[in-house]
Amino acid sequence: MLVLGIESSCDDTAAAVVEDGAKVLSNITASQNEIHSKYGGVVPELASRRHVENMPVVINEALEQAGVGIKDIGLLAVTHGPGLVGALLVGLSAAKGIAWALKKPLVPVHHLHGHIVAARFNHKIMYPHICLLVSGGHTSLFKVLSPTTQEELASTRDDAAGEAFDKVAKLLGLGFPGGPAVEKAAKEGKAVSLKFTMPKIKPNELYFSFSGLKTAVRTTIQQNPKVEDVAASFQKTVTEILVSHTIAAAKEQGLGYIVLAGGVACNGYLRGEMKRACDMDGLTVVWPEPVFCTDNAAMIAAAGYFTYSAAPDDPRWHDYVALDAVANLPL
Ligand code: KG4
Ligand code: ZN
Repeated sequence: MLVLGIESSCDDTAAAVVEDGAKVLSNITASQNEIHSKYGGVVPELASRRHVENMPVVINEALEQAGVGIKDIGLLAVTHGPGLVGALLVGLSAAKGIAWALKKPLVPVHHLHGHIVAARFNHKIMYPHICLLVSGGHTSLFKVLSPTTQEELASTRDDAAGEAFDKVAKLLGLGFPGGPAVEKAAKEGKAVSLKFTMPKIKPNELYFSFSGLKTAVRTTIQQNPKVEDVAASFQKTVTEILVSHTIAAAKEQGLGYIVLAGGVACNGYLRGEMKRACDMDGLTVVWPEPVFCTDNAAMIAAAGYFTYSAAPDDPRWHDYVALDAVANLPL
């Protein structure tokens, strides 16, 4: 079955054609970085307007690159939350219009469900496993039981890891999005020359907290340290928190397989440190290719396919006209 996936929850306009939740025939993403970078963050109204302009172009390109016509599509899968409500509505309206015109089913997808299945494109994933999802909007640990079921074990009490990278990059004058900029600067810096204290989290607790670290960076900057050293030390501290909590969750749940997901999973230092820690404890860790870590529509198509396949006769897939975008949709 060919699935057309559509994603517009934040600042990327994306469409993809995926066969049977596994084979990516096309994966098109139009980034809006150049619009939002001068504001140092995503401006919701500008994002929505650009989605309207980009969406038809991106969908046509996804079909063209896949070498298929719109009538070959058997299922629509679209992100309906969480995210910026105006941005989500653009993708949702496009998906509804296409499903209606083609008389095809439409599956609403939770954005995080997409991230959680993304590593399947380049790995044979074992279940159950622990998933560390680290993006601009979320930082959570999940116990993933199957391609359609997961339980959240912990999340962040304040900022998401990616958000902390973006805010620190802004404080250091490194540009937007901050993650790749901080990683690049950190390569030239020495983490040992500056030390940030770890957040005070109760023993045996798995939740995350990054706002104190961001404040510590702001205070440190007033002493005029080398930007690269701050970047290196910040990245090291965030990584230590992410790695230690993930390993603790795996041990607590008795699981030996770890999957990384979300934009921050592109970070080479995090990947290296997670791999090192897993090797020491005899655990396996895998992560998606970078294009499937950051927001993309292929992961939405795959998540939609798994949801549909688990209940193909569910009447909800044909009853989507009143379906709404939900900014804070629970998983
Ligand atoms: O998953 P994603 O594309 O969007 C959300 O769902 O939020 O994640 C975007 C986040 C941004 O905060 C960005 O700074 C971060 O992922 N990011 C990185 C790296 N590449 C992207 N953070 C650290 N290191 C990177 N190399
Ligand atoms: Zn995302």
